[in-house]
Amino acid sequence: MNKQLQDDLTKLAELLDAVKLQGLEFLAQIGDRPTSTKSLIKEEESLNEVGLGGTDTLQLFNEKFESLIVGSSGPRYWGFVTGGSTPASIAGDWLTSVYDQNTQTTKGQGDVSATIEVETIKLLLDLFNLPNDFFGGFVTGATMSNFTCLAVARQWIGKEMGKDFAKEGVSGDIKILSALPHSSAVKSLSMLGIGSNNINKLKVMEGNRESTDIEDLERQINELNGQPFILISSGGTVNTVDFDDFEAISKLKEKHNFWWHIDGAFGAFAACSPKYKHLMKGWENADSITVDCHKWLNVPYESAVFLVKDQYKLLQVETFQNSNAPYLGDPFDNFNYLNFLPENSRRLKALPTWFSLKAYGRKGYQEIVENSVEMAQLLGGYIEAHKSFELLAPVRLNNICFTLAGDENQDKVFDFLKGLNETGKVFMTPTIYKGKNGIRASFVNWRTNSKDIELVFAEMNKLMQIE
Ligand SMILES: Cc1ncc(COP(=O)(O)O)c(C=O)c1O
Repeated sequence: MNKQLQDDLTKLAELLDAVKLQGLEFLAQIGDRPTSTKSLIKEEESLNEVGLGGTDTLQLFNEKFESLIVGSSGPRYWGFVTGGSTPASIAGDWLTSVYDQNTQTTKGQGDVSATIEVETIKLLLDLFNLPNDFFGGFVTGATMSNFTCLAVARQWIGKEMGKDFAKEGVSGDIKILSALPHSSAVKSLSMLGIGSNNINKLKVMEGNRESTDIEDLERQINELNGQPFILISSGGTVNTVDFDDFEAISKLKEKHNFWWHIDGAFGAFAACSPKYKHLMKGWENADSITVDCHKWLNVPYESAVFLVKDQYKLLQVETFQNSNAPYLGDPFDNFNYLNFLPENSRRLKALPTWFSLKAYGRKGYQEIVENSVEMAQLLGGYIEAHKSFELLAPVRLNNICFTLAGDENQDKVFDFLKGLNETGKVFMTPTIYKGKNGIRASFVNWRTNSKDIELVFAEMNKLMQIE
């Protein structure tokens, strides 16, 4: 055995203890860790001939890279839609590395860690009050979940058109209807060979809304004259967290032939709270659903699930089966995740989620969700009451979308945001909403509390006074 490997094996406890202490220190001060960095590092181009061993490598990492690590899982990182990691999810994540399973089967000879994944999907369905007729699995993020769901939808529409796209490649006129698909769904259409331009855009409702205009949807469906199509709908738009009317879409689905996909990457968590679950009413009738776990579930990256109705398992296998590997056996007799999703080899991605769900239960997630909404409302209220700022949309759930008051200040918005992010105390992201330069703050982190809101609003005020 290589000497450095041998030494590390002997001193494994020392190495892992050092990492544990460093991790604890980071987590204890995560609120003080800057939310952005200006550190620039020159990348090395050659590899050392003889290894340093784990302990010296940890030291090197600390010297070179540690200062780059920002508090993105801390309480005031409100950019994009960025969750944190609950304590139990970190425990699950560590064990995922320690056990290093290649999670595939529930009854194969050898590893059966996929049982944990199947159980975790059942727990998630229960958390969301969804029926058990969804088949689910873990992928790296909502982008890959959208891709997986839309890949099955593509196979479905192919069959409706008398074709097997998985075998023959994509051809013909595939109809996709959507009002405001997330960019990752559009990217998925490009990856799937359907084409990112190939979307029949639906109107959104009037009155500062981002929700699909159901009348326009019905009109466009009628124009298709019975031609099958795929509907991509939103369970939480990123700018203003608006929801499509899932009850109305459910009714249309009774009358028309289409695949219904919901991107509920973060908005799906509204279903965890009695106060907000009405926003998702009717979503159980969808054919496929995307949910991100590394957002509002607060488990470490990379974690998301796809949920596809059980009845489409054959289409899913046709899409993802490793068809020229006879040693893998019949995909139904010998269940293996690699025949149902993009990746083949994969880690036990479900474990952090399993830990977190078990550790905090239904109540824990209800409280995380309701607290996030409260924080959004608190900051939203301050912004609304202040003469220098203006909300671009009402605070509907957990995101706020605002700008500097006055059209004459439109060209100052992104400089203001840059200045704010440079304080290192908070991180928000730029956006354009209804033609206006704006700023988004998204609340999904379990740690955020009202002191964070006060602190950030004070920083915002300070910056306005300097201007
Ligand atoms: C609605 C929605 N869908 C999809 C995504 C993409 O998620 P991921 O970055 O996990 O791939 C996001 C990310 O913010 C999102 O908000």
